[in-house]
Amino acid sequence: MLFILGDNTHFFKARAKTLNSVKIGICGLGTVGSGAVNVLGRNADEINARAGCEIVISQIGARRDNPACDLGEISVSRDIFDVAENPEVDILVELIGGTTVAKDLVLKAIANGKHVVTANKALIAEFGNEIFAAAQEKGVTVSYEAAVAGGIPIIKALREGLSANRIEWLAGIINGTGNFILTEMRDKGRDFADVLKEAQELGYAEADPTFDVEGIDAAHKLVILASLAFGMPLQFDSVFTEGISKVEPQDVTYAQELGYRIKHLGIASRSSENGGIALRVHPTLIPEKRLIANVDGVMNAVLVNGDAVGPTLYYGPGAGAEPTASSVIADVVDLARTLTASPEHRVPHLGFQSDQLNDFEMLPIGEVETAYYLRLSALDAPGVLSKITQILSDAKISVEAVIQKEPEAGEDHVPLIILTDRVVEKSLDSAVAQIQQMDSIAGEITRIRVESLG
Ligand code: HSE
Repeated sequence: MLFILGDNTHFFKARAKTLNSVKIGICGLGTVGSGAVNVLGRNADEINARAGCEIVISQIGARRDNPACDLGEISVSRDIFDVAENPEVDILVELIGGTTVAKDLVLKAIANGKHVVTANKALIAEFGNEIFAAAQEKGVTVSYEAAVAGGIPIIKALREGLSANRIEWLAGIINGTGNFILTEMRDKGRDFADVLKEAQELGYAEADPTFDVEGIDAAHKLVILASLAFGMPLQFDSVFTEGISKVEPQDVTYAQELGYRIKHLGIASRSSENGGIALRVHPTLIPEKRLIANVDGVMNAVLVNGDAVGPTLYYGPGAGAEPTASSVIADVVDLARTLTASPEHRVPHLGFQSDQLNDFEMLPIGEVETAYYLRLSALDAPGVLSKITQILSDAKISVEAVIQKEPEAGEDHVPLIILTDRVVEKSLDSAVAQIQQMDSIAGEITRIRVESLG
């Protein structure tokens, strides 16, 4: 018995080696590029056994070498467009980032009949429709697993694993830098700028960190997830985006007192009333008992609610050299397996066949219904609280909880925290505007959306 097993193993390995090779060209040798070179080298046997052929790095396009990886005999060009023109290259792996040169490079590779793997969320979110159309025209595939949530295979989960489901909503912590900042503020009371600096040193933050802090990076990723979930073209301009820069340490503390955590979430939902789609990125209070509320540090997690499967949670590292390389290489392996399949037999770019994408109404943030956390600085005097609650009540906004703090020595205003029931945002807007005009309110009212995610 042992002999037969050993014999079989030998037979299968020998057979794999006789299959053809697939040649890839990697453009960009930064954090992810060097991670991909290292993982492909270290795990070559397993990767090739899974792909059914040998994956060979035929060429690298990079402006400079990276001491984080050893390129050995691999040919290197300082002009990345050489890779797109190289007739040997079957799959171009775009890891340069940005949307100008990267877009030209990807379109050039497609025009030259190459498949593309990219980790570039901004490129897919903003130009994916054009890129996929070009790829379809040429009969090639553009794969982008690494573009969302780094090492978590969330694209494959949505596009393939959940294809039986009607997805009602999804919510994700999809920016590791923002999550790291909020976690450190909560756990260690650290200063915002100080934590951001550390995230940059760890290689997590975007080249322009306002992309992390102001939610643009999360918006790029949310658009991609939403198109896969609902089957619609990518619509980056429809995302309501609010960053974490206005979240203050006291909000983090008050949220905890109320049994919540503040997370920077990307939320895509389908209205049960009119079927419209709302896409939004903003700080959100979520009950601390939810698993996703306990996703800390630079980790990412995406909660997807399908009608058949119910809630499913995908958790893992959302950035970093080898976690992101893990997703890049998974796409290369997938492509290597399907290179001989005709285009119509491959998984479509957005999971749904391209002629079956929906033209949903995109809902503005004013139409979205959520609960609210409000923090006001209110004059400590009789009648102030009752006037505030009267305004809320007139707007048919029900109050779930109120915390009023003692005034600090020498202060005549006190922090007042109000948790509301769910309300359509435009009704909340007008009630908050009335409260804001009261003479007894100092400073700007802080508002953070609350989701139960249950
Ligand atoms: N800046 C991103 C983050 C990197 O912090 O999540 C991964 O996309």
